[in-house]
Order: sequence, then structure tokens, then C-alpha cells
Amino acid sequence: MLVVDLSEHAEEFNADPYPVYAKLRADGPAHMVRTPAGGETWLIVGHEEARAALADPRFAKDWRLLAEEGYVELPISSNMLETDPPQHTRLRKLVAREFTPRRVEALRPRVQEVTDRLLDTMLATPGRTADLVDSLAFPLPMTVIAELIGVPDLDRAAFRVLSNQAVAPLTDDGGESIRKIGEYLAELIEAKRSASPADDLLSALIRTRDEGGDQLSQDELIGMAFLLLVAGHETTVNLISNGVRALLSHPDQLAALRADFDGLIDGAVEEMLRYDGPVETATYRFAREPVLVGDALIPAGAPVLIALASAGRDPLRHADPDRFDIRRAPQSHLAFGHGIHFCLGAPLARMEGRIAVRSLLERAPDLQLTTETAPLEWLPGMLIRGVRHLPVRW
Ligand code: HEM
Repeated sequence: MLVVDLSEHAEEFNADPYPVYAKLRADGPAHMVRTPAGGETWLIVGHEEARAALADPRFAKDWRLLAEEGYVELPISSNMLETDPPQHTRLRKLVAREFTPRRVEALRPRVQEVTDRLLDTMLATPGRTADLVDSLAFPLPMTVIAELIGVPDLDRAAFRVLSNQAVAPLTDDGGESIRKIGEYLAELIEAKRSASPADDLLSALIRTRDEGGDQLSQDELIGMAFLLLVAGHETTVNLISNGVRALLSHPDQLAALRADFDGLIDGAVEEMLRYDGPVETATYRFAREPVLVGDALIPAGAPVLIALASAGRDPLRHADPDRFDIRRAPQSHLAFGHGIHFCLGAPLARMEGRIAVRSLLERAPDLQLTTETAPLEWLPGMLIRGVRHLPVRW
């Protein structure tokens, strides 16, 4: 079996994986690869095959099915992204009503208010330069998800460090960070349980458990809070920063958007998701039984990554896929996944992205990248795609 070694030029791959994905797609829709972090996995790179795999129950998520002796289960693993039906169905049903487009629409004034306040501070910076990640892209989604869940005074700086490590390859202390976040959340849930009931998502989920009927176990509460907190901001931060980077480096697209925010902002955000979305590969799945993808036979038990970033550049799906074009005819992408694990937060992420990008461009009419002053530092690993800092001036 030929293994494609992505660890050989890991830095270049991390900075720009798209040429590598193009070569892999030309050779076939599925390959065995060595990841930049060193592990071996199957990687699905074609749009059609990626879409089919995301909805294929033969690709499972619950690692407990494969667990070997000595495996220690973390409470945090009781979450939607690490379970299959029927547990997954039940967990998802318990929170789905909080994330419908209608519920999310009710958050719009608050999202706009947080954005405006962050921009007030950013645009008052002496020297008229800032790091867009620290000033807007990180604090906006973090504040919104923390308030929604009911942890408004969360120590965001500390949580950010733990959370960044939790989504990085496991060699980067991810295991320890996941354990620490789990302990923190267990304490938080205890505190909420004993306090008078508050009007927030975590309190509501705790009450669901306490009132009988369908119940969330303590581990499931921890897993749910963990997934929502991490998925709620690690991704949207990079939608905003990757998206603004794409716009500012395509002046014609930027000018078109500035000339017609009402008509083009929704399409612009969809194009940002397709062209350079925040989730490079979906989370790990494994084959329950041998599965044929193209002419590759993925054996039972093998780990599988689905490259959403590659699917977004597949010419069989998207004409001239490497062109950033905010006026593309709508053609659904896979940036939010597909099938039963389709992103629960997609309506919220879209709203945050649209408000952040539009407000930023409206208030900083001459915004520019200053990336020439220092090289961009890319986030490690194949899960999340983005930069640690995005220096801008206006
Ligand atoms: C632009 C921002 C975002 C992107 C690109 C994104 C992308 C994704 C993707 C690709 C998946 C599926 C992963 C897989 O199948 O392995 C997913 C699942 C999920 N996302 Fe997001 N996400 C974003 C924002 C959010 C936000 C704001 C929230 C929470 C409020 C959220 C919550 C979730 C949850 C809970 C799941 C698991 C759903 C399930 O397993 O049924 N995401 N997301």
C-alpha cells in the first residue's frame, strides 16, 4: 500500500495544502497518508466521495467500539461528535431547538452590539494597526457562545490556550488540555446545579436531567458544554480571519462587496467557507466494515479523514475552483459537513461571519493587510485551518 507522506513538507502543506490536495484528487478520491503530525490515516479528497462518506453509516465516530484494553474514557467524549445513533440522535435532539435559525435570529442584536464594541476598541488603537484575530475574530464568537451557554465570566484567555491545544494534534499536549477543560466544566456544572436556575443553555440542560424524562448524565453535560464551547469559537474565529484575508487580497472582490453589502454579503461568506473554510478535515471516523471509495478499499477499523477543504476546490463540483469569486452561483459546499453531524451551529456561524465582516469593512473603509511585516503563523494540524494572528492597518 502506497502511503502519501504529508509530513515531509509539513510547513508548506500547513501554509497552503491546496496544491497537494489537487494532486491527490487527480490520482483518485481516497488515499492512505501520513499526516504532518505523523499518524497514518485514509484521506478522502473528492467532493462527491466526501459528501457520500459524511453521510455513510459505515463510517462510525464512536471510538469506544474499537477501544483496546487499558483505554481510559474521558467524560468529555460523551458528545455528539464522538457518538453514533442512537446516542447521537438523542444528544442532538436535546440541544437542536436552541440552534434553529429562528432562535439564532433572536441573538442578532447582541451579536451586532458585541461586534460594535470590539470595533470601537480596535479602531481607537493608536497607530491604526491591530491584530484582527485578537481584536475581533476571537473575542466575538467566544463572547457569544460563552453568554449563550451561561459562562459570561469564563476566563477567556486561559480557556483559549486550553481550547487551542485541544484541537491541535495530540502530540501538542491536547490530551492534558482536554482533561483540564473537563475538570473546569465539571466544577462549573456543580456551581450551576446549586445556584438558583439561570436563563441559559447549560442551566436548561441541567434541569432537563433533573426533571426526569430524558436525562443527560453528568458526563454528557460535560461533553455537550465542551463541544459547544470549543466548536462555537475555534471555527468561527477562522471564518472571520480567513475570510477577511481572502477579501483583502482580492481587491476586485472587496470593491464589489463594498459597493453592495446588502446584495453580496451572504454569498461572500459562503465563498469564504468554500474557498478557505475553517475546518480543513472533518473529525476522525473509522470504517466499521471494508468500504470501497473510488478504487481504494478502506479496511475495517481503519481511521478516515474527510478533507472538506479539498472538496471545496474540486473542479468536478466548482468551476475554476481556485478563483475567489463572491458572486458564484450558489452551489452547496461541505464546509459545515453533511449528514447527521452537519454543523449544529451553522446558522449562528453564518450570522456572526456576516455581521463581523460587514461591520469591519464599513467602519474601516481603507482596511489593509500588513502581512508583509511578519510571516503568517499557521495553526498546527489538519483539523482547523487558520492563522494565529492577522495584522491589519486602516
Ligand atoms: C464557521 C464556523 C463553523 C464551521 C466551519 C463549522 C464546521 C463544522 C463541521 C464541518 C462539523 C461536522 C464535523 C464532522 O462531521 O466531523 C461541525 C459540527 C458541529 N458544529 Fe460546527 N462549525 C462552525 C461553527 C459552529 C458553532 C458556532 C457552533 C456552536 C454554537 C458549532 C457547533 C457544532 C456542533 C455541536 C457540531 C456537532 C454536530 C453533531 O455531531 O451532530 N459549530 N461543525
